[in-house]
Amino acid sequence: MPPSPIRPAIAQLGPNGIGRVAMLGLGDPDIIPLWFGESDLVTPAFIREAAKLALDEGRTFYTGARGILPLREAIAAFHARTAGARIGVERITVPGAAMLAVVTALQCVVETGDNIVIVSPVWPNIFQAARMTGAEIRFARLEEEWQASPPRWRLDLSKLFNACDRRTRAIFIASPGNPTGWIMSAADQRAVLEFARARGIAIISDEVYGTLVYDGSGHAPSFLQIAEPDDAVFVINSFSKPWAMTGWRIGWLVHPATLDQQMYVMSAANNTGATTFAQYGALAALSPQGDTFRGEMLARCRTGRDVVQQFLDGQNRLRWIRPEGAFYGFLQVEGLRDSLTFASALVHGARVGVAPGSAFGPAEDKASDACVRICFAQDPERLEDGLARLGEAVRQL
Ligand SMILES: Cc1ncc(COP(=O)(O)O)c(C=O)c1O
Repeated sequence: MPPSPIRPAIAQLGPNGIGRVAMLGLGDPDIIPLWFGESDLVTPAFIREAAKLALDEGRTFYTGARGILPLREAIAAFHARTAGARIGVERITVPGAAMLAVVTALQCVVETGDNIVIVSPVWPNIFQAARMTGAEIRFARLEEEWQASPPRWRLDLSKLFNACDRRTRAIFIASPGNPTGWIMSAADQRAVLEFARARGIAIISDEVYGTLVYDGSGHAPSFLQIAEPDDAVFVINSFSKPWAMTGWRIGWLVHPATLDQQMYVMSAANNTGATTFAQYGALAALSPQGDTFRGEMLARCRTGRDVVQQFLDGQNRLRWIRPEGAFYGFLQVEGLRDSLTFASALVHGARVGVAPGSAFGPAEDKASDACVRICFAQDPERLEDGLARLGEAVRQL
């Protein structure tokens, strides 16, 4: 047989643990789905209306591959308003979904033979996308500090830096994190930026949950606040989460100013930009009405977080490090060793959908295999029901 032309990095791909569990019961109305990273809210009407209007006005043609200028300008204003970061439009590209922004950033910096260091636990699509480049994936796991008051996640910078070598092209960090809700401090960001500058390593900072923070600050510390326009820093953002727009597949990338020209080519080659009428919806999301909605979404997530906390207060085999941002609970189950089997059994048994902790890191990450991730951006009553089902299953474990 002649050798296969399929690249090994592609031939080796298989569904991640979240997909494997969800496949068992997707769409079944009897299952309470807490497994995916989205709220149960429909996109607000004013955003839907803006997209409908764009369609009715005949905005069905190609746009500039990097996104319509008013949208890129509104994104710049959003960063100024929420994070106090002044970003020129030449650094902003709307390639399609945030996931495509991740892929675009990866395409800029890593290829076969390189490696990328990823702070974990992390959403598996990220390292699967990184794997597709042919690069080696290395993980630097956050430390769990259960003894701290309150318990918290901590990034051990020396562990992160020691994972880097000459072939390291990028460090990937998602803060606020999925599934942890950990928020990287501004001081740690400065230390990583200095290290990366000195070593010629790019930073890919996934900030799709940047405004979903519970400390009242309005925005988690952002690399946009400290990076110079020409630093090799890529910041990912998305309309999906704060504005309940997961199905729209639209997000953006802030990239080095030096890539201004290249981004036209990359965006044209990858997708020729985001869907035109979706861009008009996104533009409406960045209006003052959109800010109001973001506030409501955050309040709803805060309620969800309180519901989980109350539930956990009554449990003796379940605990979490209460998330500082995003909308996930990474719940540790005492005695659990195989989160995939457990989460799979929950689909047909307890009829609640959770994501297995093992999906969020390498196979060696035994600590994550004792966890399940739930999304609490849900109707509080339904969330309570889902948690009660989970609690019952844990009692029987
Ligand atoms: C950390 C992180 N990055 C990126 C994405 C991708 O966002 P989108 O669905 O808007 O492409 C997600 C979605 O869950 C995420 O959790």
